[in-house]
Amino acid sequence: MVILIIGGEGTIGKKVCNHFSKKHEVIVAGRNSGDAKVDIADSKSIAEMFESVGNVDAVVCIAGEAKWAAFDTMTEEDFYLGLKSKLMGQVNLVRIGQDYLNNGGSFTLTTGILADHPVVLTTSAAMVNGGIHSFVKAVCLELKDGIRINVVSSGLVDDAVEKYEAYFPGHNPIPMKKVINGYVRSVEGKGTGEIIRIYDNC
Ligand SMILES: NC(=O)c1ccc[n+]([C@@H]2O[C@H](COP(=O)([O-])OP(=O)(O)OC[C@H]3O[C@@H](n4cnc5c(N)ncnc54)[C@H](OP(=O)(O)O)[C@@H]3O)[C@@H](O)[C@H]2O)c1
Repeated sequence: MVILIIGGEGTIGKKVCNHFSKKHEVIVAGRNSGDAKVDIADSKSIAEMFESVGNVDAVVCIAGEAKWAAFDTMTEEDFYLGLKSKLMGQVNLVRIGQDYLNNGGSFTLTTGILADHPVVLTTSAAMVNGGIHSFVKAVCLELKDGIRINVVSSGLVDDAVEKYEAYFPGHNPIPMKKVINGYVRSVEGKGTGEIIRIYDNC
């Protein structure tokens, strides 16, 4: 398979790329990293990426940002960061990318545990994750040519514990191998419309 991985140089993305590279051709994309350049917050940039990369068998997005801040300090603009990047960025990848997926191909999006178990400072990130879950459940009913779509929603990964642990009191970190397997299940399995939750006791 040819697999396009947006965010393939990130904490999770790097490990997912290493895994898929053993069996598949992997193309990595990011704003400042990878084989192809893309800013998912900009639909023109997404269209240009697909035009330069061409047809693929799977698109995996492990990228997207949202502002983390106390709700009483959040401006309207602050919310738009998550809406434009993590939410519409991933929606636009599917909207534009459906024309570049080979028959029977798949999309795999990324959200996170905040959709189901938010912590403080995450009104934007949690909201956006929940929106993507609903989007995946709806769009799987309409994608054509056997194209599948799933979303991987994991807890705090063990590789990111140092950076984020303080925000997730009492959460059990998820071993990276389990997170990688979520992406493998989506790309190499046959399921569609699935929210692949990888949580531990939350
Ligand atoms: N870390 C965790 O524990 C965890 C748990 C659950 C879910 N998640 C979610 O998983 C995703 C990845 O997390 P991570 O910890 O691996 O993040 P990370 O280390 O910051 O990596 C993010 C990657 O995405 C790319 N990227 C960011 N914004 C982009 C944009 N607008 N357009 C294109 N590429 C972009 C970055 O590359 P460039 O800078 O070159 O663009 C980078 O390669 C995030 O959505 C995060 O919320 C993370």
